Amino acid sequence: MVSLIWLMVMCCSCCSSLVEGLGVNWGTMATRKLPPHTIVKMLQDNGIKKVKLFDTDYNTMSALAGSGIEVMVAIPNDMLATMNDYDSAKLWVKKNVTRFNFEGGVNITYVAVGNEPFLKSYNGSFLKTTLPALKNIQSALSDAGYADTIKVTVPLNADVYESPANNPVPSAGRFREDIRNLMTQMVEFFHQTGAPFTVNIYPFLSLYGNPDFPVDFAFFDGASPPVIDGNIQYTNVFDANFDTLVSALNSIGYGDLPIIIGEVGWPTDGDINANTNLAQRFYNGLLKRLAANQGTPLRPNAYIETYLFGLIDEDAKSIAPGAFERHWGIFAFDGQPKYPLDLSGSPTLTAAKDVQYLPQQWCVYNPNTKADVGSKLIDNMNFACTYADCTVLGYGSSCNGLDEKGNASYAFNSYFQTQGQKDGSCDFQGLAMVTTQNNSQGKCNFLVQIVGFDYSSASSASLSLLEMSVLLYVSVMLLFF
Ligand SMILES: *[C@@H]1O[C@H](CO)[C@@H](O)[C@H](O)[C@H]1NC(C)=O
Ligand SMILES: *[C@@H]1O[C@H](CO)[C@@H](O)[C@H](O)[C@H]1NC(C)=O
Ligand SMILES: *[C@@H]1O[C@H](CO)[C@@H](O)[C@H](O)[C@H]1NC(C)=O
Ligand SMILES: *[C@@H]1O[C@H](CO)[C@@H](O)[C@H](O)[C@H]1NC(C)=O
Ligand SMILES: *[C@@H]1O[C@H](CO)[C@@H](O)[C@H](O)[C@H]1NC(C)=O
Repeated sequence: MVSLIWLMVMCCSCCSSLVEGLGVNWGTMATRKLPPHTIVKMLQDNGIKKVKLFDTDYNTMSALAGSGIEVMVAIPNDMLATMNDYDSAKLWVKKNVTRFNFEGGVNITYVAVGNEPFLKSYNGSFLKTTLPALKNIQSALSDAGYADTIKVTVPLNADVYESPANNPVPSAGRFREDIRNLMTQMVEFFHQTGAPFTVNIYPFLSLYGNPDFPVDFAFFDGASPPVIDGNIQYTNVFDANFDTLVSALNSIGYGDLPIIIGEVGWPTDGDINANTNLAQRFYNGLLKRLAANQGTPLRPNAYIETYLFGLIDEDAKSIAPGAFERHWGIFAFDGQPKYPLDLSGSPTLTAAKDVQYLPQQWCVYNPNTKADVGSKLIDNMNFACTYADCTVLGYGSSCNGLDEKGNASYAFNSYFQTQGQKDGSCDFQGLAMVTTQNNSQGKCNFLVQIVGFDYSSASSASLSLLEMSVLLYVSVMLLFF
C-alpha cells in the first residue's frame, strides 16, 4: 500500500511537470567558463532541447553542432548599428548562420536581433538602429534561403508596455508612449514574417523594485488577494504581465501575434528575496503551469515557448541592476545544481560531468598581520572586489554577517580564484596568505574555481574540429557519388 502511494506520487510528480520543449538561456559572462562541450552534455543530460544564446560564439556553436538542440543565436546591441548596412548583415548571416548549416550542424531556429534594446536605462541608444537591423537580417536570411526555417525576433524587456497608473489592470495594457510608433512598426513586421514577439518577464524584479509589492503575487500558489480585471481574477504577476502584453498587441490590431518568453527565472543570492527556497517555489509553480499548457486568462490553454534565465551563474555580469545579477543560474558556476528542479521527469538536475577544479586552496586574510592595518585593508578589499565577485557579502546574501576580516578574506579569495590562483594574486600588500583550510561557514561558500575554458583559444583561423567534420562529411560524400 505504501509503495503504491509512493508510485502514484512518483508518477504524478513526473508527468505533471514535464515541460515540452523547455529552453534555457546560456550566457557566458563569467570570469572562468566551463568548456562548451561540458555544457552541451549537461543540457542533454537534463533533457533540455532548446537554448538561447547572446551571441554566436564559435566555440559554443561548434559544441552545439550535431547535438540536436535547437538554438536561438543573437546579435548583441553593440552590433546593431553595423547591421544597418546590408552587406554587413549579409556577411553576418554567412559567417554566423550559413557556416553552421550542414548535415550534423547547428539547428538554428531563431535569430535574436539585439537584447532588450529599448530598456529605459539605455536612454534610447538603440531606438534608431534596431528596426533597420531587424529588416536587414531578415532580408539576408531570406536571400540565403532561410525564410521558412529561421525566424527573426527581438527579445524585449517588459518595460516596452504598461498599464496606465489610473487603471493598472492587464486589459488596459498599451505600448509605452515614447516608443508606440516604433513598436507598432516592429509588430507589423513580426506579423508579416511569421515571427513571434519575444518578451522577458521577471516577477522577481517586480518584487525587488517595489517594497509594497505583495510577495505572494510573484509566485503561482495563489496565496495573495487577486487583482480583479473585469470578470478575470489575476492571482500572479506573470499572468498579469503576459496579458498586459496581449492587450497592448490587441490595441494595435495584432492580438493574435505569437508570444514567446525569452527569459524568466529567479536568482538565488545577492538580495533578501534571492535564495534557493524562493527560486524553487517560483520554478515549481512556473513549470507546472507550462507543463499543463494552461496559458493565461487572455490566452487560455496555450503552449508558451519559454527560455529559463539562466543556465549558470555569471560572475562577470554588470551589477548595475543589483547584486543578484550574478546569481540567476539554475546551476552554480561549476555546473552543480543549486536545488532540486524537475525539468525532464527526474526530480533532480544532473550536474556537469568531469569538471576540472583548481587546487584545493584558498587565499585569506593573514592573521599574523600587524594589528593596525586601517584603510589598507579596505583599499585592498575594494581592489579585489573590483575585479572579482563580492556580491554575496551584502545585506540579505549568503555571506552577509562576516566581520571585517572575514569580508577581506572572502574578497581576497574571490580575486585569487578568478585569477586562476596564479602567482602573486594572493598578496594584497602582505595582508593575505594561501591556506589549504576551507573557511566556508554555514551558507557562505569560499569557493575554489574551475580551471576554465579559454574561449579565445580556438580561433576560427585554425582548422577546427567543426571544419574537419565538414571536410570529412564532404569527402565521404565524394566517396559515395
Ligand atoms: C559573428 O558573430 C560573432 C559573435 O557574435 C561576431 O563577433 C562576429 O563579428 C560575427 N561575424 C560577422 C561577419 O559579423
Ligand atoms: C530543427 O528544429 C526544428 C524545429 O523544432 C525541427 O522541425 C527540425 O526538424 C530540426 N532540424 C534538424 C535538422 O534537426
Ligand atoms: C543614461 O543616462 C544616465 C543619466 O544621464 C547615465 O547615468 C547613464 O550612464 C546613461 N546610460 C547609457 C547606457 O547611456
Ligand atoms: C562586509 O561587507 C559588506 C558588503 O560590502 C558590508 O555590508 C558589511 O558591513 C561588511 N562588514 C563589516 C564588518 O565591515
Ligand atoms: C568547503 O566547505 C563547504 C561548506 O562546508 C563545502 O560546501 C564546500 O564543498 C567545501 N569546498 C571544497 C572545495 O571542498
